[in-house]
Amino acid sequence: AGDMGRDLEKVLIPEEELQTKIKELAQRIDDDYAGRELLLVGVLRGAVMVMADLARALHTPLEMDWMAVSSYGSGTKSSGVVRVLKDLDTDITGRHVLVVEDIIDSGLTLSWLLQNLESRGPASVEVCALLRKPEAIRTPVDVKYVGFDIPNEFVIGYGLDYAEKYRNLPFIGTLAPHVYS
Ligand code: PRP
Ligand code: MN
Ligand code: MG
Repeated sequence: AGDMGRDLEKVLIPEEELQTKIKELAQRIDDDYAGRELLLVGVLRGAVMVMADLARALHTPLEMDWMAVSSYGSGTKSSGVVRVLKDLDTDITGRHVLVVEDIIDSGLTLSWLLQNLESRGPASVEVCALLRKPEAIRTPVDVKYVGFDIPNEFVIGYGLDYAEKYRNLPFIGTLAPHVYS
């Protein structure tokens, strides 16, 4: 591993398409939250890229906070065990929370996180996820803003890792099966 030329199978979503989609999502969010203030909650570490680009595309007044939860460890399969590595620094009581995620795979991470956030008494909680794998969903989650529905393949780039690598790719690619099989 570590050799991009061999580990990348193909580009699934090029950089320009990602950026165009994020601007569309930001436009919808701006319309929906007119007259209100947002608290963006980015889910570390995968959501870093989409959070940075979405926040810059939004015109709604906003604050940004982060939670670190991990369900995958270093493997390619969800363990189903959600670990909180860092909690919010913000009291979300009465706030309009928008959770920002890179991908919804099984839905386990997000369904756990939404229950956790709802219990803190926010004014509202919605989700913006750049990617969703409809075939992989095990726990249905209500996601208001979705960038792309993608096939059930292992994807890397734009925040998404394989064993912590490839998060810095500016596009979404698929990992060659020889890397993880
Ligand atoms: C990945 C991804 C989502 C989650 C989705 O995070 O960034 O947060 O898994 O999977 P699920 O829908 O099956 O729960 P990961 O746990 O790999 O941590 P990371 O963001 O630090 O890479
Ligand atoms: Mn993640
Ligand atoms: Mg990961």
